[in-house]
Amino acid sequence: MTGNRRGRKGPPCPDKVNVLLVGGGGREHALAWKIAQAPRLGNLYVTHSVNPGLAALGKPCAVPIEARESWRLIKWCDQHQIDLVVIGPEGPLAEGMADALATEKRLVFGVSRAAAQIEANKAWAKQLMRSSSVPTAEARIFSNYEQAVQYLQSREEMPVIKASGLAAGKGVVVPESLEEAIEALGQIMKQRIFGSAGETVVIEERLSGPEVSVFALVDGRTIYVLEPCQDHKRLLEGDEGPNTGGMGAYSPVPWLDASTLARIEQEILVPTLDALVREEIEYRGVLYAGLMITPAGPKVIEFNCRFGDPECQALMMRLRSDLLEALWATAAGRLDEIEVRWDGRSSCIVVIASPGYPGPHRKGLPITGLEEAAALEDVMVFHAGTKREGGGIVNSGGRVLGVTALGATVATARHRTLQACDLIHFEGMQLRRDIGAACAALR
Ligand code: AMP
Ligand code: GLY
Repeated sequence: MTGNRRGRKGPPCPDKVNVLLVGGGGREHALAWKIAQAPRLGNLYVTHSVNPGLAALGKPCAVPIEARESWRLIKWCDQHQIDLVVIGPEGPLAEGMADALATEKRLVFGVSRAAAQIEANKAWAKQLMRSSSVPTAEARIFSNYEQAVQYLQSREEMPVIKASGLAAGKGVVVPESLEEAIEALGQIMKQRIFGSAGETVVIEERLSGPEVSVFALVDGRTIYVLEPCQDHKRLLEGDEGPNTGGMGAYSPVPWLDASTLARIEQEILVPTLDALVREEIEYRGVLYAGLMITPAGPKVIEFNCRFGDPECQALMMRLRSDLLEALWATAAGRLDEIEVRWDGRSSCIVVIASPGYPGPHRKGLPITGLEEAAALEDVMVFHAGTKREGGGIVNSGGRVLGVTALGATVATARHRTLQACDLIHFEGMQLRRDIGAACAALR
């Protein structure tokens, strides 16, 4: 993070750790749930206590988290003797929150602004991968609309078009025709539907194969690969419809064999960390590889600099060891000192979304059945876009809830998750009933 910490080990985990958790979605609810179980937790504070899941676990930190007012948050952390800041979403990381808050004594789980470029600047990430021969889709980078159109016209195969900057998971277009491709380019580069994220675009080869998300904790030098997950980004069953932030996930991934996972570590994660070190970027946080298992082996579709949502919820359900200890060890450069243990069972999460999502959606709809669903054995209902209103809970965002269950296999976890979903209701709610269904035949 800050220059003075580079390459240095932070202190060992103290007996009482005061934590500030930044972020307000289902991912952060799952992180808070595990942090709250840690024996060494002192006080847990959360920046988004409007989320009822977070409010139940942490005390509110009511200071603005925008980068331009970072002095307020620094002062608040000093006053509340925060030992560890855990940053969930990519936005604050890309804005440099980790750089602003880290000190010799106060550790931050979350990458520096320079490291967050791996997600926030896809053109830069592509060059980083090229420089270290990390397998990824062939790509060209354009900042000029006319040149990008000419390139599209010269290609025989339909490519994939990506806004280079942050676009909340929606900046990727997989067009079916040249007309659609050119229209998407116009929307991104000229109409700027993703704002400045569309100043530069990456036009890349279209890959095929099943997708998998692999997360690694990285403490600057050591990589600790977590259990793999599969995420389903399309809105509709059968992986149809528009891309979303993620409609469901499961873990582990029974169709992914150990040798492919070893290749992912050796051919993708290790060389990427080496390339970051060569760039003199210290990476302390989560390295998220979104991968496609192509006939030629695993290739990177994208890197992200944080846990995936909803994959994080599926992972937290299976984590048996102390999350706080793992987060501290990552932030302190002490990953080689800990062990991460998993539940041998599988988990499955189904996201319940608002009517209209991922487009404009209706809010304020009363939700019923939450307590009944959460009371089922080995089921957790993580809150994402909900809030308290009029004595009950209503929807307040696109992705509303993440219903998650454990089971002996992905098939049983899925079955339990759907049973819990069936107890929950709000008008027009959307969910996919096929998350993990393809695994049923495998285990
Ligand atoms: P991303 O936000 O980069 O993960 O992309 C969203 C989705 O677009 C991915 O989950 C893939 O399904 C699809 N996608 C992205 N890049 C490619 C590619 N090079 N080839 C095929 N599909 C892709
Ligand atoms: N689940 C996809 C993401 O977090 O980007």
